[in-house]
Amino acid sequence: MEKIQLHTVIYSGKNALDRLKSFNDKRVFIVADPFIIESNIIEEIKSRLKVGQNEWKVFSDIVPDPPVENVVAGVQEIAAFKPDLVVTIGGGSAIDAAKAMKEFASKIYNYEKLPLIAVPTTSGTGSEVTSFSIITDSSKGVKYPLVADSLLPEEAILDTELVQSVPKTITADTGMDALTHAIEAYVATNANEFSDALAEKAIRLIFDYLPEAYHDGNNAIAREKMHQASTMAGIAFNAAGLGINHSIAHACGAKFHIPHGRLNAILLPEVILYNAGLEGYLNTDLNPAADKYAYLAQMLRLPATNSAIGTRSLIKSIEKLRSGLGMPADFKGYDIEYTEAVKVDIARSALQDSCTNTNPIQPKNEDIVAILANLR
Ligand SMILES: NC(=O)c1ccc[n+]([C@@H]2O[C@H](COP(=O)([O-])OP(=O)(O)OC[C@H]3O[C@@H](n4cnc5c(N)ncnc54)[C@H](O)[C@@H]3O)[C@@H](O)[C@H]2O)c1
Ligand SMILES: [Zn+2]
Repeated sequence: MEKIQLHTVIYSGKNALDRLKSFNDKRVFIVADPFIIESNIIEEIKSRLKVGQNEWKVFSDIVPDPPVENVVAGVQEIAAFKPDLVVTIGGGSAIDAAKAMKEFASKIYNYEKLPLIAVPTTSGTGSEVTSFSIITDSSKGVKYPLVADSLLPEEAILDTELVQSVPKTITADTGMDALTHAIEAYVATNANEFSDALAEKAIRLIFDYLPEAYHDGNNAIAREKMHQASTMAGIAFNAAGLGINHSIAHACGAKFHIPHGRLNAILLPEVILYNAGLEGYLNTDLNPAADKYAYLAQMLRLPATNSAIGTRSLIKSIEKLRSGLGMPADFKGYDIEYTEAVKVDIARSALQDSCTNTNPIQPKNEDIVAILANLR
C-alpha cells in the first residue's frame, strides 16, 4: 500500500502574498528570517494581515540550521502570547524552526488547533510542504530530522517576488538542495508514480532554470520556475523519502557548518555512483537505482544507451551544472577536521539518520567512510 498525502494548500503566482489578507481578526505569531526585518518586508506582511498593534508578535532570532535553543525560546513566546495563527516567512531555517515551535507548543500547552502558514523566501528546502523539521543540537554536533504529519503547514504561499533578493551563492546552494531532494526521492524505497512525476518535473525545471536564476537573479521567470520546482521536489520527497545524501549532509552540516545545499551538491555524484553500484568504476552488477538514474538521463536528452552510461551521463551533467554555479566539488578548500575518526563519526551519525531508511541500498559504516574518502 502506498500513502499519497496532499495536506498543504498551495497559493502560487503573482500577488500570492495577498492570501494573507484573508487572515484578519487573528492573533498572529510571526516567525521571520532576520532578512525579513532588515529588508522591511515585515511591514508588507503586517499590512496584509490587517491586525491591530497588540495582535501580532514577531520572533526573528533565527539562526541558520536552527538550534534547539531557538525552538525552546519560540515555544515559550507562543505560550505567553497565545496566538491563533502562526505565519513563518524565510528560508528553510525559519520555516523549520516555526514548525518545531508550533509542534511543541501545541503538545505542551494542549492547543487544539494552531494553523501554520509557510512563506518560503528561498527556493530549495520544500519545507513549506513537508512533514520534516531539521533541528540542530549544537552541544552534540548532531542535526535531528523531526518527522510527523502534524508538522505539515496548513498553507504554503509561493510568491516569487520574495526570492528575487536571494544572493548568488544562496541561489546555487538552495537550488542544488532542491535537485538533491528530487533525485533522492526518485530512487527512494517509497517512490511511486505520483512522487516520480513531481520529481521528474522538478529535475527538468532545475536543469533548465537554475543557471538563469543564478546568473540573473532578476529573471522573474527563472525565479518562478525554481520556486515551483523546489515545492514539487518537497512534495515528492515527503511521499517517497530521501536517502543517504541527506543523512551524510545532516551529519556533516552539524560538524562543518557548510550550507546544507552545498553539502548535498558535493555529495551527490558520489552517492549516485554508490547507489547505482558503479563505485570503483566497474560496470557489472548494477543496482536497480541505475535504471532510474539512466531514465533521468534519457529525459534530459543525455547519452543513455545502457544504465551504466546513463548514470554516468547524469553524474556528468550534475557536475557541469555545479561548476557553472561556482560550487566546490569536494572539501579540499575547507579548513575542517577531516580525519579517519571524524569520517567514522559522520558515518555513524548518518546511519542513525531517518533519511537512511529510504535509501535504495542499506549502507554499512565503511561504505559511507569510502564515499567521504573520495571527497578530499
Ligand atoms: N524541512 C525540510 O523538509 C528541509 C529540507 C531540506 C533542508 N532543510 C533545512 O533547511 C535549512 C536550510 O534552509 P535554506 O537553504 O533555505 O537556508 P536558510 O534558511 O538557512 O537561509 C540561508 C540564508 O539566506 C538568507 N535569506 C533567506 N531568504 C532570503 C532572501 N529572499 N533574500 C536574501 N537573503 C535571504 C537567510 O537570512 C540566511 O542568511 C537547513 O537547516 C536544512 O537542514 C529542511
Ligand atoms: Zn535538503
